[in-house]
Amino acid sequence: MLHNRIFLSLASLLVAAAACTPAHRLDIDLENPGAPVQPTMYGIFFEDINYAADGGLYAELVKNRSFEFPQDPLQGWKAFGKVEVRTDGPFDRCPHYVRLQDPGHPHKWSGLDNEGFFGIGVKEGEAYRFTVWARVPGSGTSELRIELVNTASMGEDQFVCQESLTVSGGDWKQYEVILRPSETLEKGVLRIFLVGDRRTVDLEHVSLFPTDTWMGHRNGLRRDLAQALADLHPGVFRFPGGCIVEGTDLDTRYNWKNTVGPVENRPINENRWEYTFPHRFFPDYFQSYGLGFFEFFQLAEEIGSEPLPILSCGLACQFQNETEEAHCPVDKLQPFIQDALDLIEFANGPATSTWGKVRADMGHPEPFGLKFIGIGNEQWDATYPEHLAPFVKAIRAAYPDIRIVGSSGPNSEGDQFDYLWPEMKRLGADLVDEHFYRPETWFLAQGARYDSYDREGPKVFAGEYACHGKGRKFNHFHASLLEAAFMTTIERNADIVHMATYAPLFAHVEGWQWRPDLIWYDNLRSMRTASWHVQQLYSQYKGSNVLTLKMNGANVTGAEGQDGLFASAVADGDKVYVKVINTSEKPQAVELAFGETAVRAVERVDFTSDLLLEDNTLDDPDRIKPVHRKWTGKGKAHKVQIPALCFSIFVITL
Ligand code: AHR
Repeated sequence: MLHNRIFLSLASLLVAAAACTPAHRLDIDLENPGAPVQPTMYGIFFEDINYAADGGLYAELVKNRSFEFPQDPLQGWKAFGKVEVRTDGPFDRCPHYVRLQDPGHPHKWSGLDNEGFFGIGVKEGEAYRFTVWARVPGSGTSELRIELVNTASMGEDQFVCQESLTVSGGDWKQYEVILRPSETLEKGVLRIFLVGDRRTVDLEHVSLFPTDTWMGHRNGLRRDLAQALADLHPGVFRFPGGCIVEGTDLDTRYNWKNTVGPVENRPINENRWEYTFPHRFFPDYFQSYGLGFFEFFQLAEEIGSEPLPILSCGLACQFQNETEEAHCPVDKLQPFIQDALDLIEFANGPATSTWGKVRADMGHPEPFGLKFIGIGNEQWDATYPEHLAPFVKAIRAAYPDIRIVGSSGPNSEGDQFDYLWPEMKRLGADLVDEHFYRPETWFLAQGARYDSYDREGPKVFAGEYACHGKGRKFNHFHASLLEAAFMTTIERNADIVHMATYAPLFAHVEGWQWRPDLIWYDNLRSMRTASWHVQQLYSQYKGSNVLTLKMNGANVTGAEGQDGLFASAVADGDKVYVKVINTSEKPQAVELAFGETAVRAVERVDFTSDLLLEDNTLDDPDRIKPVHRKWTGKGKAHKVQIPALCFSIFVITL
């Protein structure tokens, strides 16, 4: 049973340190630095689940902007007056558009309201760029009124900003107006209607973005959410999934080729999380692909991460398909293999190559410098190695330097896992992706997970993990603490663990299918969870080389007799970072011992909370966060106290 606790002040930590006996001595070997910690070690994994892309990171505010939702081209819209959906538009892969006509009476109106994603969130005084492709059939001019509207307003006017837009001529052109709302709205509506002489007008790809996007890109990302990624300093960026790579069926798998080129002509895709869980349906969940592979590569570059795209291996989601017919037969895999080869060309090829030119035309003539590619997500059984083998052969032949990531299936251990690891070794995968969404007991028992792994095999990519508390499958501090404890085995074994990414990354508070998640948001605000802080701390104190750390000659893995302690250490120039996690409900006295080396200074960071079963909230986003303590200690050994249920990092200056 976990209890609320009193947060200990630094003074009480020091006093209590003296009182607690005996201290657990952690011997840190400064003389023999071990394996380098890979720059890719702590990363992020993005999947469009929980409205992570449209309605989330992708800053587009209009839902179904191209009238392409399959069940109803006007899903997300309310049409009034005389509005017709037509299908011979200017973009061949997104052919739908709307025609607004004179409603036939001076006191009637023709137009459209868009509801956005759980409403349209706009902030008072900020600038929003409205764009639309339009024409006046035949010729002439047509006038539109563009508004952001508060439909719940009790004021005389519903609109919080209003602009006119004149469309002229019979050719399709893109038009733009800037809207500046006079009020902040969390759930605003975009309204467009015919005014003036109400001449017929055709509208396509209706879009609204804040001008203040991440890095100011026009087809940009929500600044606060991208900043939350940048602040993690991720070394690797895995995208775009997850199960959406596989699709509920192969037709709806993530198809990267549909996600590049002009946004107006990217065909939408069904999002498999639309109806994966019958207890959480989201009938309007599609992928606009506005956040596509170019944007992923660009973001990876901007936040300093190695991009790691994952592609379909020709197997549809194996959880959802039990018959062979659902999958692509091995002898018909060539188009899938070509997708992988073309992707490498898209990322790395010269601007004169077929796919390199697509990238260059999108504004990035320089290669993105792709080094890794993943083939398959959570696949299993003999069919996976059979499907993977021809990919490995083709990629090795064309791009011998590209490192290939294979999968160990959906489970952290067991038959499929035990079968796939040797298979990945046999096929020569460079890294193997492991997934574990597991309860507290599992995390507490895994402190030595990688200590005994094969040193000659592929490297480990802990590609999806999170502590799913038993009966507590939601974000809370205690789960994050156990993730921190588990991560000591990642750090200690940096010679074979080269990448690790928590999952999932994002969730909209009104649109989630899966939790816990790293970052939550509504239409205006966002919140970094306790798990986010754990990831951030590991990344910030990543170090360059592993140091051997022992307690009574053993690794500190939460093993029996170790009083719930987990620990690891790394060197970083003239600094050493010692991470100690006390998972017990008692404070623990610890002595940090550095052999004969005298250290010049010690500081500490403590991450703990008495809100064990709670997390930060949108209303109170900073209630659980690390506390950096300026504390100077000198000498060869340091007696410290680790409060109960606390993750402490000691920053040692040599
Ligand atoms: O992260 C959510 C899902 O969990 C991923 O799509 C899948 O790979 C795993 O099963």
